[in-house]
Amino acid sequence: MSELKVGLAGLGTVGAAVFRMLERRKAELQARTGRTLAVTAVAARDRSRDRGLDLAGVAWFEDPVALARDGDIDVFVELMGGDGDPAKAAVTAALDRGIPVVTANKALLAKCGVELAQRAETSGAGLHFEAAVAGGIPIVKTLRESLAGNTIERVSGILNGTCNYILTRMAEEKLSFHVCLGEAQRLGYAEADPTFDIDGFDTAHKLAILTSLAFGTQVDADSIYVEGIRQLTLADLEAADDLGYRVKLLGVAVRTETGIEQRVHPTMVPKHWPIAQVSGVTNAVAVDGDAVALTLVGPGAGGAATASAVVGDLFDVARGAKGYAFGLPVAELTKAERAAMQRH
Ligand code: NDP
Ligand code: HSE
Repeated sequence: MSELKVGLAGLGTVGAAVFRMLERRKAELQARTGRTLAVTAVAARDRSRDRGLDLAGVAWFEDPVALARDGDIDVFVELMGGDGDPAKAAVTAALDRGIPVVTANKALLAKCGVELAQRAETSGAGLHFEAAVAGGIPIVKTLRESLAGNTIERVSGILNGTCNYILTRMAEEKLSFHVCLGEAQRLGYAEADPTFDIDGFDTAHKLAILTSLAFGTQVDADSIYVEGIRQLTLADLEAADDLGYRVKLLGVAVRTETGIEQRVHPTMVPKHWPIAQVSGVTNAVAVDGDAVALTLVGPGAGGAATASAVVGDLFDVARGAKGYAFGLPVAELTKAERAAMQRH
């Protein structure tokens, strides 16, 4: 039975959960892919930290770029985060070597997705990123593959677990914003820099990826109107409640006569709507296609949920799936197309 040698850069909340999941599901993954998925090399900053992982026999790299460039691996998994180096340099090094990449890094994809997709297409290596949007919800495959026959009119939803967790606990338990944010950080939901969560940028990064998949446009996070939840107070949530609404941070991408409109902002949602009842770290993504309209609901953050998506991508790699970056040819947007992306 052939081995799929996995190089894992990042052993934090998600990386450690992926390592454990690959160990726990070893036999099943072997039976279903016909290959042994083995982590053979890892990279993280602090080698002395006890992560509760059995790293005996696993090569340790101080430098994730060296792991991607020189490691004896068949697939590179980037779980460090950050929209620049070393994440970008490491992913680039792996793709340029023809090694498929699996990443959960939406910030990197939102900023450099076009360039990375082009590198992936040039080298023939797959770029897989199910974990980058909505944690455990398989929305990337749903848009790129399952709904390929649809013309999509709208994609919208709750795309940030941290914000939904904060808004839910504030509304239901009358807790302060900062107490709820601290708890989301402790549970491993928040980004390393939580301003990305609470100021709406993490939702915007994910929305930019979904827009590209749904509408065939280039990933373009800069065109998104973004407003976060930092300014919301308990009094705001209570006032909304009195009027029959819940406040949710929504990301919305919709086809209009002038182009694709993308926006992220807190929204008052009538309490009886299903999306108003999505609580805690749970995410929900609604897709309106001309043939199929659906809503996927599931855990949007956290080690286990995100590892589930990463391991799903590794399963695809093990089975030889190509993993087209965004499912459509990547071409430069014309000036007119870019102008059509509306700003508010
Ligand atoms: P963590 O901060 O928990 O872990 C980051 C890991 O990367 C750590 O192991 C850290 O090393 C390592 N690392 C960071 N910088 C470097 C560097 N310069 N060189 C080597 N190693 C480095 O992050 P998460 O696990 O939460 O997130 C990882 C990625 O997954 C991010 O892109 C995030 O956006 C994404 N993601 C996270 C989700 C979540 O719920 N947490 C959900 C979906 C996506 P060390 O441990 O030594 O400090
Ligand atoms: N910080 C992100 C969130 C992680 O809270 O949704 C999942 O992408």
